[in-house]
Amino acid sequence: MGSYKKIFMALTLTSLIGTAAHADERYRPVQDEVVKKECGSCHMAFQPQMLPKRSWQKIMDGLENHFGEDASLDEATLQHVRAYLTDNAADSGWFGGKMMRGVRDNETPMRITELPYWVREHKKEVPVWAWSDPKVKSKTNCQACHRDAERGYYDDD
Ligand code: HEC
Ligand code: HEC
Repeated sequence: MGSYKKIFMALTLTSLIGTAAHADERYRPVQDEVVKKECGSCHMAFQPQMLPKRSWQKIMDGLENHFGEDASLDEATLQHVRAYLTDNAADSGWFGGKMMRGVRDNETPMRITELPYWVREHKKEVPVWAWSDPKVKSKTNCQACHRDAERGYYDDD
């Protein structure tokens, strides 16, 4: 079972090399300080390009019960974060998005990690048992494998 280790070594090495080579293939990192702070304290602040507007709306409408946690915000902060996320969403035109492949118009995904594209990309490359490795813990812990996830780099090949 050396393949898990190999993945990590490859990711570590290539995140240095890959950075320059794929500079224009990255997801735009979150630039808003309020969003970084309010949405980046429990997990990484996910790039808004990874979900459509309707998903961010629904997430922002349900912060008091956010995946079992209370992530509620005061009204002004809520409005600010909502605007940033929807302005930069997958269907806002900036990125278009591989992430939207296979998502139907009448679906409102609540998780990046359940999008068909995300699932496919990870099924190919990540052995199932790797998800429960203590270093990973959760699929949402992007940085465990993508060292530069916060800066929007995931293409570590
Ligand atoms: C109090 C902690 C907390 C805060 C603050 C928080 N979240 Fe979360 N979030 C969670 C937890 C817990 C999960 C589920 C994690 C898991 O399944 O591993 C989650 C999951 C998510 C997911 C789904 C991830 C996936 O693809 O599976 C999204 C999207 C998300 N949060 C967006 C946000 C946004 C936007 C904000 C800011 C408004 C935010 N979160 C603030 C705790 C928080
Ligand atoms: C257990 C390790 C692991 C975790 C955790 C993980 N990934 Fe990945 N991811 C991989 C591997 C391995 C690949 C395939 C190799 C590659 O393309 O870099 C990949 C591929 C990807 C790709 C496709 C890159 C490309 O080639 O265009 C994206 C986008 C991506 N991951 C996003 C995420 C996001 C967002 C999260 C967190 C919500 C996440 N990943 C969590 C290991 C992981």
